[in-house]
Amino acid sequence: MAEAAQSTRKKIIFSGIQPTGTFTLGNYLGAVKNWGPLQDEYFCYYSIVNMHAITVRQDPKLLRENTLAAYALLLACGIDPQKSVAFIQSHVKTHAELSWVLSCFCQFGELSRMTQFKDKSAKHPEDINAGLFTYPVLMAADILLYQADLVPVGIDQKQHLELARNVAQRFNSVYGNTFTLPDGYIPKLAAKVMSLQDPTKKMSKSDENPKACIAILDKPETIIKKFKSAVTDSEAVVAYREGKDGINNLMSIYSAVTGKGFEEIEQEFVGKGYGDFKVAVGEAVVDELRPVRERFDELMKNKDYLETCYREGAAKAEAFSQRTLDKVHKKIGFFAK
Ligand code: TRP
Repeated sequence: MAEAAQSTRKKIIFSGIQPTGTFTLGNYLGAVKNWGPLQDEYFCYYSIVNMHAITVRQDPKLLRENTLAAYALLLACGIDPQKSVAFIQSHVKTHAELSWVLSCFCQFGELSRMTQFKDKSAKHPEDINAGLFTYPVLMAADILLYQADLVPVGIDQKQHLELARNVAQRFNSVYGNTFTLPDGYIPKLAAKVMSLQDPTKKMSKSDENPKACIAILDKPETIIKKFKSAVTDSEAVVAYREGKDGINNLMSIYSAVTGKGFEEIEQEFVGKGYGDFKVAVGEAVVDELRPVRERFDELMKNKDYLETCYREGAAKAEAFSQRTLDKVHKKIGFFAK
């Protein structure tokens, strides 16, 4: 498959998802939902990045469960393991190997400037481990191993992507063309989903207020309840306008799941109150997520199938990435045994 990708010059996409338990409506509408349609146009690699996850302390049993669940959820959201390469990061040892080499091409200063490192070390002052510091190097290895052209990432990962690009450029300029320089990629239909309780903030699974965030696997009743208590304004007009952050957010969500434009939505709710609108958004989201949850439940009952998929994914990922790693080793002066 990797050969085919190269000979037809399909562009390569790589993205990683942390196995941290809850997938939110934000992750879904802003990212994963849009990955399915990319599979025909691009050659896609998707990885559950459990090696990144251990930069903060994890309970081993939970990490194991969450990794498998995240993998199943990826498939449930429409990633077809026959079309794309879907794998678990720790199963493919080239990631750790390239990461070491690249760490020798990253400066202490540039890693110190990473916003996520600064934020996370402020949050966990008791455990500022070296992995937290070199996290972006491992991420660069993920991307560069597959010669990815495009990397779908949120705004919070842009700085890391920039670092990957800089490292690739630096390496290429010393050793000749080795790595493809990756660009960020924002799917056309990606929606930015804000918190239901404070619509000026991004929807986040780590929000202290559980009503702020919809998890993909939330029960229908829970989803409706959370939408009913979403923060809006006192105007009682469904319209997309500056200053109406809450309503704008609900309209974006409704638009992303129904495909309706903002004007059409405004028309639909003329003369109706926010109560009706909120329930309509909630129900549309429930309808959208129902098949995902059903596929997820089915996959989780079929562990053998999941195992076949992640093993095959790892084998394909390894075959492709080993070629990049071999090239790198040769260039820097390591020889094969
Ligand atoms: N750091 C990314 C995040 O937290 C996850 C990630 C790891 C990733 N490796 C990647 C994303 C490679 C894109 C490409 O969201």
